Amino acid sequence: MLKDLSSWLAATALSHTIQTAGWIIPALQTIHILAVAVLFSSAILVDLRLWRLLQRDVPLPEVARRFLPAIWPVLVILLLTGGLLIIGEPRRSLLNTTFYLKMTLLVVAIVLTAGLQWSLASVPEFWEKDWLRRLAARLTATVSVVVWCGIIFAGRWIAYTQVG
Ligand code: HEM
Repeated sequence: MLKDLSSWLAATALSHTIQTAGWIIPALQTIHILAVAVLFSSAILVDLRLWRLLQRDVPLPEVARRFLPAIWPVLVILLLTGGLLIIGEPRRSLLNTTFYLKMTLLVVAIVLTAGLQWSLASVPEFWEKDWLRRLAARLTATVSVVVWCGIIFAGRWIAYTQVG
């Protein structure tokens, strides 16, 4: 079924345009990478604050309010550019398990980020109530960094694990 979908996508006019105009794929990749830079910077700033390694003089909810909302529109840009890259070369991703690993990690990252944003918006002192919460905050920050790095790694890895 995925093979059929890939063949169908590759035969569309949009895919042909992306494949034949040499500049489109590098342009999409450039936007994708710039968006990754913005997203990762936002996430890591909050994670470092959860670890109490950065901006300790600024309350955690304030740091989260500054940086987390940027993640959602940037994710839309990643989805659009990533989607167009798939349409341009469907087999590279749709028939590649690394791509599905990346998407699974992305779901984990989205749930973590949304949970963090929601918890701080509803209970500002949520992660700082007692030592157990502070430990949980550090654990969450560690998982968040590892998962975002995993997504970046998987994004690069797709090129080296494609079929055919
Ligand atoms: C939102 C959904 C996303 C989709 C559909 C998507 C899709 C893609 C596709 C199709 C590629 C090209 C792979 C190839 O052909 O070699 C790619 C590359 C990449 N993606 Fe994504 N992506 C998404 C989100 C993300 C996120 C959230 C990150 C990181 C936080 C990310 C990081 C990367 C990286 C680092 C590359 C390699 C770029 C390059 O080498 O040119 N992507 N992505």
